[in-house]
Amino acid sequence: MRPSPFAAIILAAGKGTRMQSDVHKVLHPIAGRAMLDHLMGVLEGLGPARKIVVVGSGREQVEGLVEARGGETVVQDRQLGTAHAVLQAEPCLADFDGDVLILYGDTPLIEAETMGRMLERLHAGDRPAAVVVGFRPKDPLQYGRILARGDGTIEKMVEYKDATPEERAVDLCNSGMLAARAGELFTLLHRVGSDNAAGEYYLPDVVMLAAADGRHSAVIEAEPWEMAGVNSRAELALVEAEWQRRRRLKAMADGVTLVAPDTVWFAHDTVIGRDCVIEPNVVFGPGVTIGERVRIKAFSHIEGAVIADDAQIGPYARLRPGAEIGEKARVGNFVEVKKARLGKGAKANHLTYLGDADVGAGANIGAGTITCNYDGYFKYRTVIGEGAFIGSNSALVAPVTIGPGALVGAGSVVTRDVAADAVALARGQQVEKPGRAKRFREAMAAKKNRGA
Ligand code: UD1
Ligand code: MG
Repeated sequence: MRPSPFAAIILAAGKGTRMQSDVHKVLHPIAGRAMLDHLMGVLEGLGPARKIVVVGSGREQVEGLVEARGGETVVQDRQLGTAHAVLQAEPCLADFDGDVLILYGDTPLIEAETMGRMLERLHAGDRPAAVVVGFRPKDPLQYGRILARGDGTIEKMVEYKDATPEERAVDLCNSGMLAARAGELFTLLHRVGSDNAAGEYYLPDVVMLAAADGRHSAVIEAEPWEMAGVNSRAELALVEAEWQRRRRLKAMADGVTLVAPDTVWFAHDTVIGRDCVIEPNVVFGPGVTIGERVRIKAFSHIEGAVIADDAQIGPYARLRPGAEIGEKARVGNFVEVKKARLGKGAKANHLTYLGDADVGAGANIGAGTITCNYDGYFKYRTVIGEGAFIGSNSALVAPVTIGPGALVGAGSVVTRDVAADAVALARGQQVEKPGRAKRFREAMAAKKNRGA
């Protein structure tokens, strides 16, 4: 239980110039999901009363996502600094007297536990005016610095640009995340000025203004990786790498074998059951759920797929959205499955395309089978009954149904339905001419000898 309701204010009005992108910075994805969505998803776990995203340009790009998450956007027309950005949310919170948690839209790895600690610290017995999250990065760069006392209260907060050499030597950096009580926070924010090296309204100044009123603030520390921000594509890749590193550890802790962890890429929502084995170089796109004891062999690419217990996939398999692979089914090398269901124990082991199809339990799809599902205008379904056998290199021209137990001869182009237990052959008849090859060779050799 939270000590009191809280509103989250997410700052995302910065220009994001270094991303060199037409896409709003906070919409760039980590593990297949917009940074802002990660952050709002984590927040959800804490049950915020309000979620307000402060945007500059590009409001129309983020609005949809924010509304879908039950939040609202406010615009900061000119980027005059972090304190000014937070103030833009004041009208939205006129009727709100709980806590405020300030987050950055471009710092998506912060964990719910850290957010929770901020709010709890705010309500500790000594009632600090504000709680700031500090961190100690390997390279403190140009972060603002926090001068803290031994008891975790803050003596001074100073921006790098304004700091003395001694202050710059302090390794406790300001992450920018801050918690305070709404009424107190906005009163302090109105007093923040811009008389500093950057000419900006600094959010950390609320700590100094509170101190001048005799109210202390406190710092809590978080791991540097949690506070990693994204300002460039290179930093986007670093944050992605960190997210993946942690997700791999979680998968292994949950009982999944990763033969070469660094080569497996997860999406934000990948679900994998116990005792699955993921071989090297497997990529999961969004929307994948895998049962237990499934083996995903090397170099497979899987997205939007549900895979039941004991199935085997790959090597080199591609499962696309709508693939449903049944228990103990097998999808082998160079097989692509899209919007298709494979029943229990069905097999498509080699060089096949199954799109818009329903394959019954125990059916065997021969090498090189193609479901021809598209005529350039519409998509059509192929239904293959239980225990059917499709001979190699067959083209099944949809819409078409192959009955249960039917057998399609290799090399067939099937354009009409096949009844249950029937044999269908739809290919040129074989013709044999005895001795003809020998006579052909003799005639040609003679012609060549005559110097033709
Ligand atoms: C800020 C902190 C600094 C801290 C650092 C951590 C201030 C004054 N400085 O510096 O102490 O070490 O973050 O990364 O707060 N933003 C707006 N509107 C604005 C300005 C910023 O929405 O007018 C948003 C940005 O989109 C970004 C966040 O606030 O998400 C931080 O802004 P940024 O310009 O990166 O602040 P720093 O100068 O890095
Ligand atoms: Mg920054």
